[in-house]
Amino acid sequence: MKRIFSGMLLLAAVAALPRAATAADAANGEKLAKRWCAACHVVATDQKSGNTQVAPFSVIAQMPGFDAAKLALYLLTPHPKMPDMSLSRAEAADLAAFIVTQGH
Ligand code: HEC
Repeated sequence: MKRIFSGMLLLAAVAALPRAATAADAANGEKLAKRWCAACHVVATDQKSGNTQVAPFSVIAQMPGFDAAKLALYLLTPHPKMPDMSLSRAEAADLAAFIVTQGH
C-alpha cells in the first residue's frame, strides 16, 4: 500500500514538472527586476533613469531573436559585466516573462 502511494506521489510530481517550468509569473518578475536589475537597467516605463550604458528592458525585449526561454537561460549563466545574482530557475523565468511584457 505504501509503495503504491509513493509511486502515485512520484507520478504526480513528474506530471506537475512541465507546468511549473512554463507557468512564469510576470508580476513576480517585475518585483524581482525592480529589486535586482533597476540599479543598472531601466526595467519599466515608470522608471526615470538607469545606467545609460546598459540596455533598457524595453529594448532587450525587441532585439532580433529575442526569446523568453533563451533569456531565462542567459540569466542563469554568470556574465562578466553583470553580478551573479544566483537566481533560481523560477525567478529567471519570471524575469524573462516580465521583460517580454516590456517589449509591447
Ligand atoms: C551591475 C549592473 C547590472 C545589473 C544589476 C544587472 N545588469 Fe543586466 N547587464 C548589465 C550590463 C553592463 C550588460 C551588458 C553586458 C554586455 O554588454 O556584455 C547587461 C546585459 C543584460 C542583458 C543582455 C542584453 C544584451 O545586450 O544581450 C540582459 C537580458 C540583462 N542584462 C538582464 C538583466 C536582469 C534580468 C537583471 C536583474 C536580475 C540585470 N540584468 C541586472 C549590467 C547589469
